[in-house]
Amino acid sequence: MTTVVNDMDRPVRTTFLPFAAPSIGEEEIAEVLDTLRSGWLTTGPKVKRFEEEFAARVGAKYAVAVNSCTAALHLALEAVGVGEGDEVLTTPMTFAATGEVIRYLGATPVLVDIDPVTMNIDPQRLTEVAKKAWRAKAVIPVHIGGLMCDMDPIMATAREHGLAVIEDAAHTFPSTYKGRMVGTISNITCFSFYSTKTITTGEGGMATTDDEALADRMRMMSLHGISKNAWTRYTAAGSWKYDILFPGFKYNMPDIAAALGLAQLRKADAFHARRAEIATRYTQAFGQLPDCLETPPGAAAGDLHSWHLYVLRLHAERLNIGRDEFIEELKKANIGVSVHFIPLHVHPYYQETYGYSPNDFPNAYQSYLRSISLPIYPKMTDDDVESVIAAVTTICRTHVK
Ligand SMILES: Cc1ncc(COP(=O)(O)O)c(C=O)c1O
Repeated sequence: MTTVVNDMDRPVRTTFLPFAAPSIGEEEIAEVLDTLRSGWLTTGPKVKRFEEEFAARVGAKYAVAVNSCTAALHLALEAVGVGEGDEVLTTPMTFAATGEVIRYLGATPVLVDIDPVTMNIDPQRLTEVAKKAWRAKAVIPVHIGGLMCDMDPIMATAREHGLAVIEDAAHTFPSTYKGRMVGTISNITCFSFYSTKTITTGEGGMATTDDEALADRMRMMSLHGISKNAWTRYTAAGSWKYDILFPGFKYNMPDIAAALGLAQLRKADAFHARRAEIATRYTQAFGQLPDCLETPPGAAAGDLHSWHLYVLRLHAERLNIGRDEFIEELKKANIGVSVHFIPLHVHPYYQETYGYSPNDFPNAYQSYLRSISLPIYPKMTDDDVESVIAAVTTICRTHVK
């Protein structure tokens, strides 16, 4: 990064800092080359190893690798029996994927507002909504940014109402809740290995479970619903014969992606340590600006927050610019940022289909209006981190009323 110093003696970037970037090293390149040279590109030995190593790392009995977290969520809902006319409880504060998979199966998403501090689904409200949602079959808690939802009351509500719990853990590797690793708590947990995530396979996802029947169902449906081990049919041990048992999907992970995943998995703890270090530095620096900003909560003592996202929330009423202008100022300072999320109920599809208006879920809506996600990834240098702090601090000091 080239910097000059501004009139407040703070560094100003002269090159753009992207919001997110993967950390790809020689190990990933070597692992992918090994796959290319092996001649086996699609689902095969590397996927099997990636599944085994991921399951062991999480502490789950089964892991099913697929080509996205969206696919994992879809397969998970299908496996627990969600279908036409059912309801699925979830949060509005999430990405498109969480809502659309419910619609794929002809079910209805029933949204439950968030806790204004954690931005995760509010367990108290979930209990109230579950009492009335008599067609509900499942609940999808989403661990925003890598901070785990309060799972004990969510699991208790699910047990009381006979709901399956599918965790959207797209942001959450590695995170823990009361000492338990994500991926071992509910019926099925779905992870994302999209390029911006804490570990990546380019595109990819994983579903973990301790239930063999659910794992088998997801595996079969991830590959056209055809009989077990269909992917071995081109090996010496395989057979050309197969049976289509159900109309499944094409969601299998290729070995090229799993090769990346294997190398990334070995680095996951080091990646996490760097993310946590950046989060600590941000929170220390932004804690000096309480008039302007609210910093995100960390995990409870002894637990892990994956720090996939670092979401600042502005005290907009104390600033003479709004969130969107704040983002523009950051852009001018060469800092790439994002917003997580535009809640589902604010999007045209959900408004037109279910008649939602923004204040139907006021905590999610207000949180959205004030949020800015800052760059946080292992490849960032200390200077990059300081340049983000300098830019945010300058904008706050310039625009606080
Ligand atoms: C909360 C959440 N769930 C699901 C997904 C979907 O993940 P994928 O891109 O791997 O399908 C994302 C992606 O960003 C996400 O943020």
